[in-house]
Amino acid sequence: MIDHNTISRIFDTVEITEVIQDFVTLRKRGANFMGLCPFHNEKTPSFSVSPSKGIYKCFGCGRGGNAVNFIMEHEHLSYPEALKFLAGKYNIEVVEKELTAEEIQQQNERESMQVVTSFAQKYFTEALFNSVEGMAVGLSYFKERGFRQEIIKKFQLGYCPEQKDAFTKSAQSAGYKLDYLVKSGLSIRRESHTFDRFSGRIIFPIHTLSGTVAGFGGRTLKSDQKVAKYVNSPESDIYNKSKTLYGIYFAKKMIAAEDKCFLVEGYTDVLAMFQMGIENVVASSGTSLTPEQIRLIKRFTPNITILYDGDEAGIKASLRGIDLILEEGLNVKVLMLPEGEDPDSYSKKVSPTQMNDFIVLNEQDFIRFKTRLLIDDTQSDPVKRANMIREIARTISVIPDSITRSVYIRECSNWLQVEEGVLYMEINRARRKKAEQNYLRLRKVEDQVIQRISKKQPETYSGNTETQEREIIRLLLNYGNHKFRIKNIERKSGEKNITVAEFIVNEITNDELKLDNPVFKQIFEEYQHHLNEQKPLDQKYFINHPDQSIRDKSAELLSISYDLSKIWRKHENYIPTEEMNLQEILPETLIAFKNERIKIAILDIQNRIKQAQETNNLEQVEELQERFIILTNLKKQLSKDLGDRIIL
Ligand code: CTP
Ligand code: MN
Repeated sequence: MIDHNTISRIFDTVEITEVIQDFVTLRKRGANFMGLCPFHNEKTPSFSVSPSKGIYKCFGCGRGGNAVNFIMEHEHLSYPEALKFLAGKYNIEVVEKELTAEEIQQQNERESMQVVTSFAQKYFTEALFNSVEGMAVGLSYFKERGFRQEIIKKFQLGYCPEQKDAFTKSAQSAGYKLDYLVKSGLSIRRESHTFDRFSGRIIFPIHTLSGTVAGFGGRTLKSDQKVAKYVNSPESDIYNKSKTLYGIYFAKKMIAAEDKCFLVEGYTDVLAMFQMGIENVVASSGTSLTPEQIRLIKRFTPNITILYDGDEAGIKASLRGIDLILEEGLNVKVLMLPEGEDPDSYSKKVSPTQMNDFIVLNEQDFIRFKTRLLIDDTQSDPVKRANMIREIARTISVIPDSITRSVYIRECSNWLQVEEGVLYMEINRARRKKAEQNYLRLRKVEDQVIQRISKKQPETYSGNTETQEREIIRLLLNYGNHKFRIKNIERKSGEKNITVAEFIVNEITNDELKLDNPVFKQIFEEYQHHLNEQKPLDQKYFINHPDQSIRDKSAELLSISYDLSKIWRKHENYIPTEEMNLQEILPETLIAFKNERIKIAILDIQNRIKQAQETNNLEQVEELQERFIILTNLKKQLSKDLGDRIIL
């Protein structure tokens, strides 16, 4: 956490025209400056910057904000990252907020690991270009495979000498502690000796979104089947495999500009595509995508095209994984390469133009692709056919957006020659099942929380609803203006649309609840107020809010990378689906909040009953016990009531 003084200093120092001029050519026009908008394609300038107000605004695409917003949007950085970026530009020392001793220790450790990792990258690159062995073995291998110098340099490729511990020794004599070399996975320590993890391998550094090296992949140059082809850095405090995508740092700009991301399997595929001018490409590094990786891509584009080599068995095995991508609301296309080719090999057989033509001609929508693939197997077998239809319906069912779903239903009913109604039924069944599972999972988490709480002595428990409040405000800020469907009570049947903000505000006000955390409370009340005035609020209102703590909080909660609340994160099975799954997430969040409130009230009553018993105040005991029963029933009733109002 960056400390408040640092943030104020950054805001005081930053000159918005200087910041923007690094990216856009600005010309003075009266009191303001104008230029071509970097966020959308335009021929005449409609992007204006006001130095006195410290804001920018594009009259073409509507984007606007202060210098920090500009950096966040342009460089695709989170709020704290953007602040650090600006601090760097103006040489402002960044002071992080007070941390506990434990946090400091952990941070020092992470920093030390970061430092040795960065040293290792330089060492490997140096060895590749300037050592006899590196040049003869590593560099010539890269050259042989057709990788040009500029791409090798850009991706900071390297080579680790083949001696057992050459790297470890060098690092130690340069003053780096063995402890950190081991923790970051560069060195492996056995009882009697220590050796280099990557010895004799060519090195692919893996960069984080902001461009620091978090880990490495090392490829052997031996054709020996017994040697693992790739060795990768182990998970550590600085390398989280499931949150990293190979190439994302270099690709992010073009992914946003092209509004599309290519997904390939391997390191060399990324390099080959990049080299031929297709720069919006990342690799999953051989495994199927994790939800975190999908969300990383989603920060830049909702469109993803997966490149397959032409091996049908492999494709079938990976179909299920793709449902996870659909579930995140992304549009998925697939591109089948000719048999036996991967992006690396194929890109070396064709010219860039041919490659682009090939992509345009052969890219197909994922659901259509899957349908065709499965349809071939099931021509004349009715049972297989029914299973296939169910499978396709299941895939469509995970798409969060109902309009997209209905488009697919129409198309698939055509391709599969089944009635739309049949597909609808299957799809609704699958969605209901999923919603139920989510609900049960949530209940399980809740039960665990209750158990944990009840194990504690009531006296020592001072519950609060901060976690739930944060989640509610996060949903409000991110999706306040999204539509939400509820049952239309007046008409007894049917549904009606309200906004997420209306739903949340109604749910909380009707139960006469308030938020405790002052910042969350104020954001909530501003929503409430604006709803009463029937004015919608947009996110910028809070990001540019006069109150610093609201500005900070909302920027934090609005960054897409924001993780789940603590309780949910602990329960790793709970896979959150956002935005389009609001229909499910929203009621769950409100139930969690209200439940927690009741739980706190119940605990409080229990305490008071105990005290009353100790002082023999029997009248009060009775009264309290009555309240206790009411609350317990209320708790039971709660989920059901909310369930009666919403539609899944
Ligand atoms: N991979 C891995 N460990 C292995 C094999 C593969 O981590 N033992 C990952 C690597 O990230 C690799 C990707 O899976 O890049 C794809 O594997 P593969 O196609 O075998 O490697 P390529 O990247 O194509 O390497 P090359 O072209 O040199 O064969
Ligand atoms: Mn390959």
